[in-house]
Amino acid sequence: MRSMNKKYVHGYDLRENIRLQDQASTLVELLHSDTSYPAGSQVLEAGCGVGAQTINLARNSPHAHIISIDISESSVAEAKKKIEGVGFKNVSFQLGDIFNLAFEPESLDHIFVCFVLEHLTQPLDALDSLKNLLKVSGTITVIEGDHGSTYFYPDNDLAHRAIQCQVELQKRAGGNANIGRELYPLLNAVGFNSIQVSPRMVYVDSSKPQLVEGFTKNTFTAMIEGIRETSIEAGLIDKNTFDEGIKGLYRTTETDGVFCYTFFKAIATK
Ligand SMILES: C[S@@+](CC[C@H](N)C(=O)[O-])C[C@H]1O[C@@H](n2cnc3c(N)ncnc32)[C@H](O)[C@@H]1O
Repeated sequence: MRSMNKKYVHGYDLRENIRLQDQASTLVELLHSDTSYPAGSQVLEAGCGVGAQTINLARNSPHAHIISIDISESSVAEAKKKIEGVGFKNVSFQLGDIFNLAFEPESLDHIFVCFVLEHLTQPLDALDSLKNLLKVSGTITVIEGDHGSTYFYPDNDLAHRAIQCQVELQKRAGGNANIGRELYPLLNAVGFNSIQVSPRMVYVDSSKPQLVEGFTKNTFTAMIEGIRETSIEAGLIDKNTFDEGIKGLYRTTETDGVFCYTFFKAIATK
């Protein structure tokens, strides 16, 4: 588990799995609509987790061969079950560590990485390892969030403080919850070419009830609620402040509320 953030890893418990599924289905159009790979191409999905993105990759690229890997055996097993359950035949699964994958150098046409770099202490090394596996002219697609991009109405300082606990915990564990804004410099530092980063803002108001439920409540606020005990135990915040912050996040889901969050999607060439 080299470079892995050991204290805060998505994909391992039931609630987290449900959250990742919600997150994926709500955001499919925003994040995936422009990703499809040509027939016959070999595509590595690095850090597939429980398969929340795998299903979209498989659907959008029916004639590509997707190889989805993860370091967590239970996540790989769950992803496999999920994909087999919906009958896709274009995905194979492997247990593997991004830093030490069993592929020949320059053997893959494309690589896809989503919500993984934010958890790694050495994202540059991860990108470098992945680059070695890509054929010249192959592409890498990276999607990450950035918690610093969160703003909402009504604004609420305590809600920002609760969110900041997540940023701080992830930092203490070696990750970076604000990594979205760094995709260009990271890919550039590793020597990728033609880097194009596009911010993908999720804008939610009460005219979009599916996003209010699927994103503001069940994805973002559920994620922050999930770090309540850890944040209090770590002395980052007291109970009341945290709970008032969560109330502030829920307040944005009322009729006059608005919630915004920006993901960053980068596509670059070797
Ligand atoms: C937040 S989950 C994202 C899963 C999936 N990409 C998604 O978007 O739903 C991060 C995943 O990265 C995996 N991971 C972390 N470090 C890894 C490494 N060194 N090699 C392979 N997978 C890794 C974790 O096991 C976890 O499943």
